[in-house]
Amino acid sequence: MELQAMHKITQSDYYNFLELNKEIIIEDQHITIGGKYIITQLQPDNFELEIENIWSFPERGKWATHYLNAKYRGNYAPQVPRNIILRYSMENDTILDPFIGSGTTLIESKLLKRHGIGIDINKGSTMITMDRLNFNSGEDSFPEQEVYTGDARNLNKIPDDSIDLVVTHPPYANIIAYSKNDKIEGDLSRITDINEYYKQMRTVAAEIFRVVKGGKYCAILFGDSRKYKHQIPLSFRLMDIFLEQGFILKEDVIKFQHNTKTRQYWKKASVEKNFLLLAYEHLFIFRKPEGKATGIYKYSMKA
Ligand SMILES: C[S@@+](CC[C@H](N)C(=O)[O-])C[C@H]1O[C@@H](n2cnc3c(N)ncnc32)[C@H](O)[C@@H]1O
Repeated sequence: MELQAMHKITQSDYYNFLELNKEIIIEDQHITIGGKYIITQLQPDNFELEIENIWSFPERGKWATHYLNAKYRGNYAPQVPRNIILRYSMENDTILDPFIGSGTTLIESKLLKRHGIGIDINKGSTMITMDRLNFNSGEDSFPEQEVYTGDARNLNKIPDDSIDLVVTHPPYANIIAYSKNDKIEGDLSRITDINEYYKQMRTVAAEIFRVVKGGKYCAILFGDSRKYKHQIPLSFRLMDIFLEQGFILKEDVIKFQHNTKTRQYWKKASVEKNFLLLAYEHLFIFRKPEGKATGIYKYSMKA
């Protein structure tokens, strides 16, 4: 099967799309675009970098256009990419999110004056991203935020060793169906077989490894699931796939999950059937070493 190539969304693509569409359906959520948005706060108040490896953001940040994205299933709090971008990149660096969703990473990239590249298999998601980037950042000139439809398994327009930082939250297999109604070819959230899902994520990891510069970073947020009252350690398997490519692990951050849609539903069963509700995800921060590969866990930590 030929993988979809990257296609850039221009401002006129976005305005033409807006003429015909005022809302986009992602899974079962109706998401409005093209409204007259009022931004009361461009940047967060008193933002402090996290200094420990357990992160908890009970309130999803609402600055800039983030407040519009509460309905996008599986999006991350802007505090996640903000922490990563500030720690692992500098102004004018290039940031990539190959699963851009509602645009959280690129909104932060714009606010923090980085050059952003965001990709999603779902054209609707890329239009939400274009819409949420359509605000005045108060700067006369700022690095471009590029949005593409495309497949994270095929970063064909991105040269080798050109990205300073990847920040992303991939879809999980068979949990949130991002293209439930239109069943988009290549949407990894539609894969039902877990081994097939990891096979495809191996291609994603190889592409990410190819485009990241030596010595630079890649942060992946990923969680586990539960089956027959047992925890399925999906995240560690994904971590291993990235290590096999040649990344080395810089940090494993535990990120609390607040206000999940299914919490109330499972609360009673957790006591009656005796299992604990999953309440964290892993935020793996990898580094691509400089130098030569030597084996399956290919590099030494010093590289
Ligand atoms: C967990 S969401 C990302 C949410 C995002 N971090 C945010 O804050 O809005 C995962 C995204 O991956 C997209 N996706 C699924 N398969 C893909 C593929 N093969 N390539 C690129 N994007 C894909 C889905 O459409 C969905 O928008």
